[in-house]
Amino acid sequence: MRKNKLLQGVKIPRHIAIIMDGNGRWAKKRMMPRSAGHKKGMERMIGLMERAFELGVQYITVYALSTENLKRPKEELDGLFDLFRNNFREAFGKVCEKGVRLRALGDVSLLPEDIVQVLRESEKETAKYEGRGINIAVCYGARDEIVHAVNAAVEKGEKVTEESFAQLLYTKDVPDPDLIIRTGKEVRLSNFLLYQAAYAELYFSDKMFPEFSDKDLDKAIVNYSKRTRRFGKTDEQL
Ligand code: IPE
Ligand code: IPE
Ligand code: MG
Repeated sequence: MRKNKLLQGVKIPRHIAIIMDGNGRWAKKRMMPRSAGHKKGMERMIGLMERAFELGVQYITVYALSTENLKRPKEELDGLFDLFRNNFREAFGKVCEKGVRLRALGDVSLLPEDIVQVLRESEKETAKYEGRGINIAVCYGARDEIVHAVNAAVEKGEKVTEESFAQLLYTKDVPDPDLIIRTGKEVRLSNFLLYQAAYAELYFSDKMFPEFSDKDLDKAIVNYSKRTRRFGKTDEQL
């Protein structure tokens, strides 16, 4: 494992979720089209996943497209869908063939049909893998997820518990995130994992996503490792 000095003895989060923000501003600053920022962002996302798995992280969730992002101009959305069509299989195939299960979180029915098919195929092909997972939050909105889960519970006509409710969410069977990283200088969750983030540690970076390096990820993990997670208890009880 390529662990540098910084990471000696550091507690590695089991599940890291990333709000990849700042692709557009990164491109704008360089007089490039927003699509160039998204392309660079996608490359960075793969790099960060490889680094995280190398360090022993088990689950990585990336916020790739929110339900609200669907209101962006058609040209930008078409560019994002093309980026997916041209890169997804190769990029994720490389990561997933090492034994990583892929899940799409969100209302994927809102995506173009061919993309839904690729996602469903990838989910099926990797369903045999246990222990490590990549979750792509696409057409994902936490409020949508919660409403969807409530309706499923109502249909069943059963009262829910915290555990049974979690099983109705898109993240079913995925442990809650330990660390949520947001790049791009904004300090908000933007409708991401609102239920699952109850006790997540939050880390915000001023860097735009395409420039968030492996070293920046290492630094976020070191920062996480220094925090005391009390889950409501006192220090003495831990
Ligand atoms: C995040 O980058 C990627 C998506 C939301 C698809 P943005 O596209 O939001 O980049 P900024 O925030 O405009 O810089
Ligand atoms: C959050 O970024 C969504 C993703 C990273 C996919 P946004 O750029 O959509 O967030 P807001 O609109 O600034 O809150
Ligand atoms: Mg943004």
